[in-house]
Amino acid sequence: MSTPDYAEKIPNNVSLNEDRRLQRALESWQPNFLSWWESMGPTLPTEDVYLRTAVNVGREGWAQFGHVPMRDYRWGIFLAEREGDRRIAFGAHKGEPAWQKVPGEYRAELQRLIVIQGDTEPASVEQQRNLGATAPSLYDLRNLFQVNVEEGRHLWAMVYLLHAYFGREGREEAEELLHRNSGSEDSPRILGAFNEETPDWLSFYMFTYFTDRDGKYQLGTLKESAFDPLSRTCEFMLKEEAHHMFVGTTGVDRVVERTAQVMVENDTDDIAARGAIPLPVIQKYINFHYSVSLDLFGGETSTNVANYYTAGLKGRWLEERRKDDHLLASDSIMVDALADGEIGQTEVAALVGLNTDLRREYISDCAGGVKRWNRILEQAGLPQRLYLPHIAFNRKVGAFAPIEASPTGERLSAGEWDARKGQWLPTETDKTFVRSLMQPVYQRGKIAAWIAPPRNGINGQPFDYDYVHLA
Ligand SMILES: [Fe+2]
Ligand SMILES: [Fe+2]
Repeated sequence: MSTPDYAEKIPNNVSLNEDRRLQRALESWQPNFLSWWESMGPTLPTEDVYLRTAVNVGREGWAQFGHVPMRDYRWGIFLAEREGDRRIAFGAHKGEPAWQKVPGEYRAELQRLIVIQGDTEPASVEQQRNLGATAPSLYDLRNLFQVNVEEGRHLWAMVYLLHAYFGREGREEAEELLHRNSGSEDSPRILGAFNEETPDWLSFYMFTYFTDRDGKYQLGTLKESAFDPLSRTCEFMLKEEAHHMFVGTTGVDRVVERTAQVMVENDTDDIAARGAIPLPVIQKYINFHYSVSLDLFGGETSTNVANYYTAGLKGRWLEERRKDDHLLASDSIMVDALADGEIGQTEVAALVGLNTDLRREYISDCAGGVKRWNRILEQAGLPQRLYLPHIAFNRKVGAFAPIEASPTGERLSAGEWDARKGQWLPTETDKTFVRSLMQPVYQRGKIAAWIAPPRNGINGQPFDYDYVHLA
């Protein structure tokens, strides 16, 4: 492990200067990345932004804060420190030393996993590129840009692996990561949720709560990988992801808080005319973002994922804390299924049901947010509650894709679904209304009327700090 080289063109802690070929390859990818950032990244012109930059990987002081022009952000390559004698924790190679190189037999699969993860990182930057124009405060604007530059760094993290370990094919895939674009007709991003638009800030908070959280769980499984450089890369990315989760969690908190406040002050549920977001609209946004994020975990059963596990490429969430043999060859699991056309469950081999295992971890994590938001309603003395819709609701992937179900899990005919879906998913009217509230507030210490201010600023700074200087 080298000390981080911050003076280099590409900041890194992987001794890039000792591998001239790799360094040159990445340095020639860098201008392509920058032109992607210029053309597909944030559209709001800024002088500089108060940003966190990763400069090291240690427990203390891994990042520094300062005002930087976003174009000059120091996107770097940082892997968590190497454990001296890391052993593979699961699968057929359990107990063997972790791999420092890619085994030929798993090359294609590992490359695929890295490309799929890598594709989501720039996608979210693209989805969020116009949000700066309608930021509710400078504090929120800064958080948006922080998430954006870090997703850019996560792209760097995946591109480093592709360049360093996958030869010419890896370099080609790295180019493709800049060519595909979110929502593009000809070359869309790989996963569905990453082709949806993020047109307003309520969507942004929901995205960072629900969809970034999917990312957290995917990274968690890759962090267990036998391929050590991938494991260490993901471990460090998870550190940055924590802030993205925070932006989502507290963003929705603050929307709910403001909504509750306006409801109580005016003693009415009908607060749209008073410039706040009605609870039923918030619920519809939860329904949408939660259900599309559930799809990201794939089908309930998957032989590919079983093979990845046995091969040691991808583990379970918190693999080492699981109290079993970490082989799972003779275990079973109940997975969601259609049984005679009805919503139910069926028993399958545990290995084949690993997507379900991961999705369940995710679901119980998501429930934590709903609990927080309901506490806010409760403290305001309101009887209304938010909820997560049923797992069969609005699914496009997996066992429930062929059917329609209500948020409470009641099976519906296609006709009933069409007639009622506007009660559960944001309609054009809802979206237009939310968009109408999205007027930018760029004065220091001011906040839009539809959201409460944060409890604290960033890095000990006050809320009215000059987080962003507009151009
Ligand atoms: Fe990311
Ligand atoms: Fe993220």
